[in-house]
Amino acid sequence: MMGDTNVLVIGGGGREHAITWALQKSPRLGALYVAPGNAGTAEIAQNVNLDTVAETLQFAADKNIHLVVIGPEAPLVAGWADELRAGGVAVFGPSQAAAQLEASKAFSKAFMREHNIPTADSRTFNDYDAALAYAESVDHAVVVKADGLAAGKGVIVCDDVASARAALKTIMHDAAFGAAGDTVIIEERLIGREVSILAFCDGHNVALMPAMRDHKRIFDGDQGLNTGGMGAFGPVADVSADDLAYFRDAIIKPAVAGMAARGTPYVGVLYAGLMLTQQSVRTLEFNCRFGDPETQAILPLLDSDLLTIMLDCAAGSLNPADVRWKSGFCATVVAASGGYPGDYQTGIPINGLDAVSDSVVFHAGVRRLEPGGHVTAGGRVLAVSAVGDTLDSALATAYADIARIDFDGMHYRRDIGRTEG
Ligand code: AMP
Ligand code: GLY
Repeated sequence: MMGDTNVLVIGGGGREHAITWALQKSPRLGALYVAPGNAGTAEIAQNVNLDTVAETLQFAADKNIHLVVIGPEAPLVAGWADELRAGGVAVFGPSQAAAQLEASKAFSKAFMREHNIPTADSRTFNDYDAALAYAESVDHAVVVKADGLAAGKGVIVCDDVASARAALKTIMHDAAFGAAGDTVIIEERLIGREVSILAFCDGHNVALMPAMRDHKRIFDGDQGLNTGGMGAFGPVADVSADDLAYFRDAIIKPAVAGMAARGTPYVGVLYAGLMLTQQSVRTLEFNCRFGDPETQAILPLLDSDLLTIMLDCAAGSLNPADVRWKSGFCATVVAASGGYPGDYQTGIPINGLDAVSDSVVFHAGVRRLEPGGHVTAGGRVLAVSAVGDTLDSALATAYADIARIDFDGMHYRRDIGRTEG
């Protein structure tokens, strides 16, 4: 039986395909639209083009949309959730004020300090000379971070004073990321394993997702350039149920309570990027959205109705006990275009998508040809996600299925789930 809740998802990456795929299973779902979507969402929902928030509001009115789900950070940071809510539309995604947790690292650090959320020691600078003098004065390695959004490239991990100087020059002096680098954070460099902790939030209540790890580097053994993410898996073995409860109580809940206290309640997914050091846990960053590719590995483990969870978050009535997870593991392996994250070609035919049976293929940079067939259309092309009773079995299924797919230049890591990042 088809339900009557009409939903619009904003975004067009692998993350949004995964969100659409999970929403599409809901018995409550009526019509499902994705703007702009991709070749994968086109198979299970209706793709539409909506370039502005004004167009989106009009579309929501015309199609009687009951919930808008905003995937990427850019529209959240631009205040789309506020404008849609002001227009009477329910939204899953934080307001512009709450999205500052991702939009400004200086804001985020000050917020963490104010609410005693464990984070790395840092200083914030608006002045290039003062930042240089500080970087030269400290006796520990540092990480230099542009304050604003920089498409994941604004964080430079430095090995020595010379590289810290070079990082400050790139970000502040040469303005490689524009105004995003007018302010910088210089943070102590920590050593440890990273983990992604995501939570559904309704403004007050939170429900944590399984602890995930993503793989950022392009090559096996965590070598080569950083990418948008080459794979993810979880739940990770080095986060126990007690650890997860601690992260909830020491990091996620104080952040959500802090936002509520500011009068800007946090609704949507709050994503904390954590570093597990020898001594303790430190929050490296907050993101105001689902992770990519973590989402492609998280949502196959969800045992509850995503649409109900999102509606409850938007309505402020989330009951954490209603968010249940399957007991197994999920592994996601990303296939990228040859040359990515540098230059790469697009329009290359993709073969074997129909041969995948036990995994789900989430499309990112894929274009569907009329009358048939698929070609590459981006750097990260697709993600293959598989669940299993053990991490090994999930990985075995995902790798068996990704081997059935091929396109000229296709590259994927062979060590997802086997390394620290
Ligand atoms: P962020 O966007 O702040 O999470 O930084 C991006 C990446 O830079 C993180 O996922 C880490 O791999 C690395 N990073 C950030 N902060 C630190 C830190 N204080 N120490 C070591 N690595 C860091
Ligand atoms: N997987 C990292 C991110 O979504 O920011």
